[in-house]
Formats: sequence, C-alpha cells, structure tokens
Amino acid sequence: MTNEELINIAVKAMKRAYAPYSQFKVGAALLTKSGKVFEGFNIENSSYGLSICAERVAIFSAVVAGERNFEKIAIVADTDKLVSPCGACRQVMSEFGDFQVIMTNTSGQLIVRNVSELLPFAFKLKG
Ligand code: THU
Repeated sequence: MTNEELINIAVKAMKRAYAPYSQFKVGAALLTKSGKVFEGFNIENSSYGLSICAERVAIFSAVVAGERNFEKIAIVADTDKLVSPCGACRQVMSEFGDFQVIMTNTSGQLIVRNVSELLPFAFKLKG
C-alpha cells in the first residue's frame, strides 16, 4: 500500500474524530506487516485528561486484533502545520518496533521518520 493510499484512509478517519472540546480532529491509519489497516481518530472526554489520541486508538485496536508488527502509520490533521505525534504516542509506538511514521496535513505536506528517530533512547524494559 502506498503512503498516499494510507493517508487517504487516515483523512477519512479524521473526519469521524470525536473532538468537541479542542475541535482539533486527528486521523490515523496503521498498516500492519500482514497487510491489514487499522484506523484511529482522537476521542475526547469532558474529563479532558481521559482523551486519547488517534495514533493510540489505531495501535491499540490493531493489538486487540492480534497484530503487533507494523509497517507504517499515517497521521493527518486539518492544519497548516504537519501533525507530529505527542510524547505518549511515541512511547506507545516504540513498544511495537521501529516502523515508519508519516506525518502530514490536508494540504499534502509530508514528513516521514522512523519511530526511533522520533523517540531516541526510548524507555524499554526489555529488547
Ligand atoms: N491529538 C492526536 O490525536 N494526535 C496527535 O498527534 C496530537 C494530538 C489529539 C489529542 C486531542 O484530542 C487533540 O488532538 C488536541 O490536542
């Protein structure tokens, strides 16, 4: 699957985001090494700290489905700047290897980095 195809899926997911507090909708699409795609979008809560980012929703739903090996994740938001994953999401990503992170926006700007580039010296209990 091309980056463009994965980004298109992330854009569709972004539109379904539940972000009534920030109005900042984020979409993610995660491609597994087995060729499946898992979508995510941010889901906020009136107790703000309970909100969860698009990236973690995509990763956790893949893990629930038995998938732990990832090829790449596309992240998109409808902003001027590229959307770059937060520190918590970087830590969760690093749990599952060193896959590609495609950071983009709806204007088509794009930067691709590996998880290890986004979170050098990541905390790990093993491995
Ligand atoms: N958010 C994401 O879903 N992913 C990111 O990479 C950055 C931030 C969400 C969390 C919150 O719902 C909203 O964007 C504003 O911070």
